[in-house]
Amino acid sequence: MSWFTSPADAADRLGATGYLTDAATATTTFLAGALEKPLLIEGPAGVGKTELAKAVARSCGADLVRLQCYEGLDEARALYEWNYKKQLLRIQANQGSDATWDETHDDIFTDEFLLTRPLLTAIRREEPTVLLIDEVDKTDVEVEGLLLEVLSDFQVTIPEMGTVTAVRRPFVVLTSNATRELSEAVKRRCLYLHLDYPDSEREREIVLSQVPGLQEAVAAQLVDMVARLRELELKKAPSIAESIDWARTLIALEIDDLDDDAVNATLGVVLKHVSDQERAVKELRLTRPVRTAGAAR
Ligand SMILES: Nc1ncnc2c1ncn2[C@@H]1O[C@H](COP(=O)(O)OP(=O)(O)OP(=O)(O)O)[C@@H](O)[C@H]1O
Ligand SMILES: [Mg+2]
Repeated sequence: MSWFTSPADAADRLGATGYLTDAATATTTFLAGALEKPLLIEGPAGVGKTELAKAVARSCGADLVRLQCYEGLDEARALYEWNYKKQLLRIQANQGSDATWDETHDDIFTDEFLLTRPLLTAIRREEPTVLLIDEVDKTDVEVEGLLLEVLSDFQVTIPEMGTVTAVRRPFVVLTSNATRELSEAVKRRCLYLHLDYPDSEREREIVLSQVPGLQEAVAAQLVDMVARLRELELKKAPSIAESIDWARTLIALEIDDLDDDAVNATLGVVLKHVSDQERAVKELRLTRPVRTAGAAR
């Protein structure tokens, strides 16, 4: 199956499902499909890494199989696990029969007793599949070893059963916040895309397309304010996700002019640290509302 026919086709079809790309994103996404190579996306939080995998699935009519990575993730959660309880029950049941141990052994290491986890599930699926290996930098380095066979050969080896090779190669997306360097072995097997905050024009398009009812003028003010906030040295700069939340907030509060009062009243939607809020107020010279004695009471 070809996923996208050209970078322009990728841009169009992703755009049609609500994911707006720049040229580099569209080209790399097209290539990942055309070359059947996993796509490693790195970048700060909330810039659309996970969403790109979901958008590829939506735009190609594929199902998404997701492996959420975390510290302590192991083979049994990522690849497969034997259903020990069921195996024990079968062994007990066979004790009363005249089955030999070899027969029982062959019986309990079959599909019926296998619990498949996301990597194996994705490899075995015959329908178009997007395999999302999300936040891969959160796992321990050893887990990357588990991924290598899947990433380079699209196969999984189960000692008791043999090697399972993909009938239909999934579109593989790995995401990372770059909290640690991934191994060269993983990087070598992937195409690489660095996603960053979008330029103002694209962010305005994203916000307008995601938040129906938002007026162009206030969208422009919002995107401009977010860009100014990102220039400050903050603990956590606002992401696209926060721009969208902010736009929804303005709609909910029926605010159609993002003046100092409106920013002050809603700053908590975009900046989640007190120190960041204080810095923004100071550096952007926002006038804080004057608390009257009556209001304080
Ligand atoms: N290019 C885009 N077009 C449309 N929406 C976007 C785009 N990029 C991001 N978004 C929006 O931003 C939200 C956050 O994106 P997403 O969850 O993919 O971020 P992330 O990079 O995976 O962040 P994290 O590192 O925190 O997991 C999405 O739900 C989506 O609505
Ligand atoms: Mg994500």
